[in-house]
Formats: sequence, structure tokens, C-alpha cells
Amino acid sequence: MNEERDNEKISSDIVRDDFNAIEAVLHYTRAAHFLGLWESERLLITRHFPEKSAALLEAGCGAGRVAVGLWHEGYRNITAFDFAAEMVEQAQNLAAELQMSELTFLQADATRLGECHLISDKSYDGALFLFNGLMQIPGRENRRAAMRGLHRVCRPGAKFIFTSHDRDADPVERAAWAKEAVHWQRGEQNPRLLEFGDRYFAHEHGQTFMHLPDRAEILADLAATGWTHIEDALRDELARERRAVKEFSDNCRFWVARRD
Ligand SMILES: C[S@@+](CC[C@H](N)C(=O)[O-])C[C@H]1O[C@@H](n2cnc3c(N)ncnc32)[C@H](O)[C@@H]1O
Repeated sequence: MNEERDNEKISSDIVRDDFNAIEAVLHYTRAAHFLGLWESERLLITRHFPEKSAALLEAGCGAGRVAVGLWHEGYRNITAFDFAAEMVEQAQNLAAELQMSELTFLQADATRLGECHLISDKSYDGALFLFNGLMQIPGRENRRAAMRGLHRVCRPGAKFIFTSHDRDADPVERAAWAKEAVHWQRGEQNPRLLEFGDRYFAHEHGQTFMHLPDRAEILADLAATGWTHIEDALRDELARERRAVKEFSDNCRFWVARRD
């Protein structure tokens, strides 16, 4: 990335470039091949979609970890998409290698679902946006656009399952965010960030943008985009995960909502 870009506000173009970077693609491809579904994901998805014929739409599918895991669970009507072309290519390769012809992987942007003619209105029994992908969309209005788009392509009664980190999860997080709030009040926050709750950080698999919401924010966003909150729980409360899953990902909050 050039120096000019290093000073820009975080945008969806920057997030897409970060996910198309080789380190990120390798990381998520390994997860799709070797890690599979988390126990918490398996539990919630099978609870809310007991019919294996359910038409499911997975947003932010990466290299296919969740969609391929669902295929192994017996689901056969899955469409999955990601806006990072390199990720989609890996997912398509894996599905072809495993001869999962019922799995469809597309390139599409969750904030502009109306532009994807292969994803039609009122066609899905459920939408998934797992491993915090929704929170990797910079800007609250853009996250709401994605939630509205998913609402539009789902049928009445459909469920939406997604995850986020939790800014208020524990006293350590709360204290850190109280300090960050002071930076924002003084205008001393990282100038590349858009909103309070945003983080942009480097790690061994590249760079990551993440918005950390509080509970009130998610409940308001669901209500504003036509979804009715059904339940939410921390991953640790839902299931005991394998060590490999805990090494791959932190604890997060699962949210389940219904389209009325
Ligand atoms: C944390 S990764 C999770 C990938 C995969 N679901 C998994 O768990 O292995 C989040 C994914 O969301 C995708 N993503 C972020 N914003 C998106 C958007 N606006 N539209 C579509 N995909 C998006 C990223 O490209 C990335 O592949």
C-alpha cells in the first residue's frame, strides 16, 4: 500500500484490499480447509434452520469455511458471497475439489446487494454474516445498508445470524473504551477511524478493520433495518470450542433476528 493511502480514512476499498492480500487469503483458506464450523455456529444454525433444505445466504464467506462446513452438516441450498475476489476464488476451488456442486460462491458487496442480479429479493430462508464480517464494514450507515439488503433478499419469517465483538463484555474492555472515549472527546483519536468503536490494527495475517459496537447500537440497527431481535449470547456461553477455534478467533457475541 502506498504512503498516501496510509493516511486515508478507512474505507471499504481499503478493507477489501486487506482481505485480498496474500497473508489474509492464506489464513482464511487454511481455516476453510482445516478448521471448519465452530461448535457455536453449528449449534445455532441447526437450531434456527432445522430443515436441511433451507435456502441460506452467507455474506462475507471468505474462503468458504462456513458454507463448506454447512454442506458437511447436510445443507444443500447455500449461496455464499464475498467482496474480495481472491477469497471467492479460493472458496470456488475448494467446492470444486470436494465436488460440492450445490454450493454457489459469488463476488458481491453486502452494502450493494441490489447490484447483484444473482441474488433475488425475498428468496432466502436465512442470512448469515459470521466471524464479525458485518463489523468489518466501515461506517454505521454502510452496515445498516448491508442489514437492509439482507432483509430485502430474505423471505418473511427468515432468520439472520451474525456476530460482533462486545465493547462492554468485561471490565477490562470497558476501561479501555472509557479511555478511548476521552481521546475522541479531545479529537486525539487515530484520524483514520470513522466512528467511536472502530479499530484498525496490524497482526501476523495483515491489517484488520473492526467496529466494536455496544448492545444498544446493535439493537437500534436491527430495529432500523426491519429485523426483530430474538436472542443473543456470547460464544463461550453457547458452546465449548476446540483449541484450534480459540486460536483462530476471540470470543464474540452471536445475534439472532427475524424478518417479520
Ligand atoms: C473475518 S472474515 C470471515 C471469513 C469467513 N466467514 C470465515 O469465517 O472464515 C470477514 C469476511 O467478510 C468479507 N467482507 C467484509 N466486508 C464485506 C462486504 N461489504 N461485502 C462482502 N464481503 C465483505 C471480507 O472480505 C472477509 O472475507
